[in-house]
Amino acid sequence: MQILHLDSSLQGEASASRQLSRAIVDALLRASPAAQVCHRDLAADAVPHLTGDIAAGFRGAAGPAPTGVAAERARSEQLVAEFLASEVIVVGAPMYNFSVASPLKAWIDRIAQPGRTFRYTAGGPVGLAGGRRVIVASTRGGLYSVGAGAGMDFQESYLRAFFGFLGIAEVQVVRAERLTQGAGARDASMADALAQVPRAVADTLATPLTTPISA
Ligand SMILES: Cc1cc2nc3c(=O)[nH]c(=O)nc-3n(C[C@H](O)[C@H](O)[C@H](O)COP(=O)(O)O)c2cc1C
Repeated sequence: MQILHLDSSLQGEASASRQLSRAIVDALLRASPAAQVCHRDLAADAVPHLTGDIAAGFRGAAGPAPTGVAAERARSEQLVAEFLASEVIVVGAPMYNFSVASPLKAWIDRIAQPGRTFRYTAGGPVGLAGGRRVIVASTRGGLYSVGAGAGMDFQESYLRAFFGFLGIAEVQVVRAERLTQGAGARDASMADALAQVPRAVADTLATPLTTPISA
């Protein structure tokens, strides 16, 4: 099994999502010791934001690459190939300003490639990346799973929508929230989230693939 492990927190070793994503990968490796892990730290080794010249490498007719762009087009290819080679994708996803962290968004913009991970049809876009499973390590300072904050969650809802768009319906979420509401709330929430990991991993591995891996 090939695992792609993404982290995107800006908070280094203090990061809650890094702690959770690591626990998820460790649990996957306990269940599947022969699995291979590719770890991408999108904060430490940032993927530059998409530009028109970079996007032209995988959207429409690409002209000759201007200076410096060829390397970025090659990086887009490397990222999408790495994603398509993975069966399980573990996404460390902190909520920043109600959405995902910008390093994660920069990665998303590189792997959403027509003809590779989705295609346009007369009936609308169709995902091409089905058969993979995603586990999101979601962390938030406030409370969004219930109550008044729910309408402000553009992080988990966005990730579900995005991976669904690529054809991946199997998205498990391991969530720690209220992380900036005092040490007691943070500790309790992290302990609860870490306790959710074995079940999330077991459910992920037990879920039959609905569509074959397409690439
Ligand atoms: C730049 C930044 C923006 C944040 N925006 C939000 C937010 O919109 N809502 C929220 O509940 N928490 C917000 N937080 C708090 C983080 O979600 C919280 O610190 C969480 O632990 C982040 O995960 P991490 O520790 O892996 O970075 C923000 C934190 C930072 C650093």
